[in-house]
Amino acid sequence: MTESNLQSLKPLPKVERLIAFTSNDLNDLCDATDAAIVGGGGFGWTHIPSRDILERFWQGVVAMPSRILLVARLDGVICGTCQLIKPTVNNEAQAHAVQLTTNFVAPWARGHGLARQLLREAENVARKEGFSVINLDVRETMIAAIELYETSGFQRFGELR
Ligand SMILES: CC(C)(COP(=O)(O)OP(=O)(O)OC[C@H]1O[C@@H](n2cnc3c(N)ncnc32)[C@H](O)[C@@H]1OP(=O)(O)O)[C@@H](O)C(=O)NCCC(=O)NCCS
Repeated sequence: MTESNLQSLKPLPKVERLIAFTSNDLNDLCDATDAAIVGGGGFGWTHIPSRDILERFWQGVVAMPSRILLVARLDGVICGTCQLIKPTVNNEAQAHAVQLTTNFVAPWARGHGLARQLLREAENVARKEGFSVINLDVRETMIAAIELYETSGFQRFGELR
């Protein structure tokens, strides 16, 4: 086995913006969401919803012009995601700020740098769309996520007690 053979065996991490689903992608994203919910990082869900509810949730996300969906893939399989939510049109005071949400990587795909890639791409997309601030909230128990955000330059500006 040569060095280049070993390199080609490494799983390939990739991040991209998604504007429509193939049925495989939708199924993989629902599987990844189920795994994240079971792992305790299910962006609000504490129990796995039925598959049709989850599919409609994700189809709704790509259909909404106010939402930008980024997905992470490992060897082509969707295993993580994050979304940017644009401010509503009446919210002129916050027109410069997007909300980052539903950010997770399925447990089986963690440790490959995908969350950092997702965050970097979210920053690039937000900048291209003309936003200068990304807001997000995170539970104090999400140690890995807090580490990710703080080492990426995000500033903690408040705590809910
Ligand atoms: C947080 C999460 C997205 C990280 O995903 P990941 O793809 O494994 O992360 P990466 O491999 O890109 O690592 C990026 C950074 O995250 C931090 N990190 C990742 N795993 C960590 C761990 N177990 N402990 C502490 N920090 C960790 C590190 O700063 C790491 O940077 P480094 O590799 O340079 O040290 C993932 O653990 C997850 O989905 N957790 C549950 C859901 C969640 O907390 N979402 C955020 C809600 S806002």
